[in-house]
Amino acid sequence: MLDDKDRIFTNVYGFQDWGIDAAIKRGDWDDTKALMARGQDAIIDEIKASGLRGRGGAGFPTGMKWSFMPKESKDGRPSFLVINADESEPGSCKDREIIRHDPHKLIEGALIAGYAMRARAAYIYIRGEFIREAETLFAAVAQAYDRGFLGKNAAGSGYDFDVFVHRGAGAYICGEETAMIESLEGKKGQPRLKPPFPAGAGLYGCPTTVNNVESITVGPTILRRGASWFTQFGRDNNKGTKLFQISGHVNKPCVVEDAMSVPFRELIEKHAGGIRGGWDNLLAVIPGGSSVPLVPAAEIIDAPMDFDGLRALGSGLGTAAVIVMDKSTDIVRAISRLSYFYKHESCGQCTPCREGTGWMWRVMERLRTGEADISEIDMLQEVTKQVEGHTICALGDAAAWPIQGLIRHFRPEIERRINVRRGSDLAVAAE
Ligand code: NAI
Ligand code: SF4
Repeated sequence: MLDDKDRIFTNVYGFQDWGIDAAIKRGDWDDTKALMARGQDAIIDEIKASGLRGRGGAGFPTGMKWSFMPKESKDGRPSFLVINADESEPGSCKDREIIRHDPHKLIEGALIAGYAMRARAAYIYIRGEFIREAETLFAAVAQAYDRGFLGKNAAGSGYDFDVFVHRGAGAYICGEETAMIESLEGKKGQPRLKPPFPAGAGLYGCPTTVNNVESITVGPTILRRGASWFTQFGRDNNKGTKLFQISGHVNKPCVVEDAMSVPFRELIEKHAGGIRGGWDNLLAVIPGGSSVPLVPAAEIIDAPMDFDGLRALGSGLGTAAVIVMDKSTDIVRAISRLSYFYKHESCGQCTPCREGTGWMWRVMERLRTGEADISEIDMLQEVTKQVEGHTICALGDAAAWPIQGLIRHFRPEIERRINVRRGSDLAVAAE
């Protein structure tokens, strides 16, 4: 069990004030200048040594990402840090809690990360629906400027650094890093083809790193306590502590920090009060937000909750948004609803996604009602394969994977519905 003294997010439940005085009492902004004085390369090396992997879903090594940024400015072009606070993945709600209750940890992290990658400024792109959180963030940034932690000679470091908060307008696709950059530039939020990656050509064509809120927020604590402290938690390649967001059919849904690789059963028993109706009542779990395939009960119970453990089960850690479904769940309907979400959120830029998400949702609805023919199950599987890997951004994959997981694990249930429907149709016809 993660000790209280090892928690990074000491105010995640908002028991204390989010404001700057309370944040300073909790240890934020504690001699930030000294952390920065270690030097840019030393900071990046420490983050690399900590094994921190991106907390926004993809798990790309954070220190390595920072190291892609140029050390020297070309043609006087500035570099930028963009912080992805557009948290829109169904099931994900951790970045919202950080911004609500610990915004100074995020802002201090922005300064240190921005300095390490030689960025001129950070843009925090916050989800449009997060109205109160945006108010908190604007106020926290203003407090940091008032105390001299941002702006010219930020925190007395001799480094000039600004933080801008930008509100989104409610499009899930703007959480994709290049769509976010387009949106920040004032254009329609549509993903760009990669490469070039943002470190080569990002915001306004300048070198840019896009990081998730949680990845940036944990930086100062890692530097203060050291990479070896962070690597105590979790397994090789899956290090550190992590915010898990447990929702659905558990007794006590919650957002909680625990060590990476904690076994699923332990996570749920310790923090979420167990499964509603007991462990025999567990049907399946989506362990990482809606973009990863579901895992049936028997396979997940003893699984380590980390990138590699869940990938070995054909799923993923994603954002660690753990959606628990008990046996009362209409699993076909649940996945069909997710299909509708992806159809609705597709930006329409590439054909396999624009047409495929609509196709997949319509067939999912036929499977849900039992109106489909048995052969449509294989046809749907084939459509998901045509979408997966054939689109500009990961939304196409994200739409395909939940359906693939459903067919892989719950094909008999889909067939049962079709057979029941066909049986009742035949009975009606015979009358
Ligand atoms: P990705 O794997 O394409 O990229 C991850 C990061 O690594 C990006 O910042 C990318 O620029 C960088 N990167 C990858 N290869 C690189 C290279 N060769 N050189 C330089 N940089 C490189 O994944 P993506 O599309 O950024 O994210 C997909 C994930 O996002 C999904 O796994 C999903 O779980 C998650 N997601 C999270 C949401 C949320 O609300 N937090 C919403 C939707 C999806
Ligand atoms: Fe847009 Fe979908 Fe193509 Fe992504 S995969 S660029 S969301 S159409």
